[in-house]
Amino acid sequence: MTKTTFTYWLAGVGLWLAAILSFAFYTIETTEQRLSDELEATGRTLHRLISQRVAQHDAHMTSLIAVTSGAEPARSGAVRQVMESITRFYPRIAWIVLVSLESREGSSTPPGTLIRRLLEVPDGETEDLSPRGDAIAKQQPGRISVYPSRNGRYLLAKRAQPPSAAAVVLAIDARLLLEPEERPPWAQLQLTLDGQSLLDLPTETVEASGLPLIASPHFESVIDGESRRLTLSLDRPVSLAALLPLKQLLGFAAATGLAFFAIMFALRQRQAAQISQKTMQEAEARALLQERETLLAHASRVNAMGEMASGIAHELTQPLTAVLSRSQAALRLASADNPDIRPIADALEINVREAKRAGEMLKRMRDYASNRAPKPVTSAINAIVTEIVALTLADLRQRGITLECSLAPEPIRAMVDAIELEQVLHNLIRNAADALEGAETLAKLIRIETEAVNGEIQIVVGDNGPGIAPDALQKLFHPFFTTKPEGMGLGLSLCATLVERVDGRIEAANIPGSGASFTIFLPAAQAQEIA
Ligand SMILES: Nc1ncnc2c1ncn2[C@@H]1O[C@H](COP(=O)(O)OP(=O)(O)OP(=O)(O)O)[C@@H](O)[C@H]1O
Ligand SMILES: [Mg+2]
Repeated sequence: MTKTTFTYWLAGVGLWLAAILSFAFYTIETTEQRLSDELEATGRTLHRLISQRVAQHDAHMTSLIAVTSGAEPARSGAVRQVMESITRFYPRIAWIVLVSLESREGSSTPPGTLIRRLLEVPDGETEDLSPRGDAIAKQQPGRISVYPSRNGRYLLAKRAQPPSAAAVVLAIDARLLLEPEERPPWAQLQLTLDGQSLLDLPTETVEASGLPLIASPHFESVIDGESRRLTLSLDRPVSLAALLPLKQLLGFAAATGLAFFAIMFALRQRQAAQISQKTMQEAEARALLQERETLLAHASRVNAMGEMASGIAHELTQPLTAVLSRSQAALRLASADNPDIRPIADALEINVREAKRAGEMLKRMRDYASNRAPKPVTSAINAIVTEIVALTLADLRQRGITLECSLAPEPIRAMVDAIELEQVLHNLIRNAADALEGAETLAKLIRIETEAVNGEIQIVVGDNGPGIAPDALQKLFHPFFTTKPEGMGLGLSLCATLVERVDGRIEAANIPGSGASFTIFLPAAQAQEIA
């Protein structure tokens, strides 16, 4: 995996984790809000229910006071019936007592209010009200007051309007203010009277199983009745598991993980497609470039042939002239009486040899100028050098230049295209000849050497011309660098291209006191390549 790909994946995983985290926060936030809204709604419903029931109690008391202390008080039997039917229909009303409040003014008893029971329903279940006597007596007539009691009960008391000394006291069982099905099983429900707990029901279903509680929405409201000191409060303990169900989180992680991997895979595929397209385009561009270089190389060879034409024509004229004169002499000998066949045969034999030599020269020229796709094969380097020497020798001779060859004694081979290597050598020989042209040197000399050094083949083309100017040495192989008025500056750059194509290289140097030297380095062919 490359560094870029790794960074790419790291960023992707980071994004994925960030998405999971955002999902978790969002879920917690919305669930908490939902649970809190639910608690609020339930609280309001319970508040309404309890308020209605409290209002009923108020109504009962008002009507009981009315029937007992009006202008024409009902008979005690009828009042008892009413009281009994109330306790029967409303089980949360534990008992009802009708009392008479009388001032204790006798010297033997302490001052205060004496409570005398007139009626009580059901019999025997009421509690002792004497400690409440003073408090009830001090109540404003017509107003209901609330008093704490025992066993989750509270008391409601109402005084009749004077001169009646009657009062009604109801005991309400706070546990029965709500039906079991009315209370939410998931909340802790509390009813308090002046801060004193009347009812405390814990949660039945646990939304907090095991995990730490992280939120606890709270609802509180005062019951709105004549007796308004009752407070209802609800608490809903919520655990992390309730706010963020693990299944949901895992489901989201799995789904987004899959999507993430699908996207990463698609991106990788696209990247791979782009790379392969780029590689293809580069390969096409390389092929086009090579084609152009081959065309250029061919054009350059054809051009060079033109330059060499006069030397080669001279090279061919000599054998042709000799063949002509030898053939004429043979003809003369043949036309004599009793001709001697021996000298005629000798002359013809030499002619055949000369004609073959001329034919070889022409073939060499045709090969060199041919336009065909280069094909590197394992080639004998010395033979290639010999070929190009044969082709250029006549031209050099005409220009008064001597060409010396020192070839490696052992056969040396390299993977090259023979014509292209000939062209490289030809360019170097032409440059050397050009350098020698204007030189003052008396014995103009070009020297070609071949040798194998450390598994590498070296071909050196040196001359005893003026050498290369130091500032030109760096630019020699740049296309279009030339110091010649007629030069194109393409010879050496083409040489470098052709040599590098077969994994070789070319270097230029000045031989101290003796002109320039160019060395071609080629990887020597391995034994199996030769085989
Ligand atoms: N043997 C040499 N001695 C001195 N200078 C040389 C020699 N060979 C090359 N040079 C210098 O290198 C330059 C570049 O040579 P290159 O063969 O690339 O181009 P060119 O010969 O000028 O033109 P052409 O495109 O016709 O070959 C030459 O102009 C010359 O200055
Ligand atoms: Mg040149």
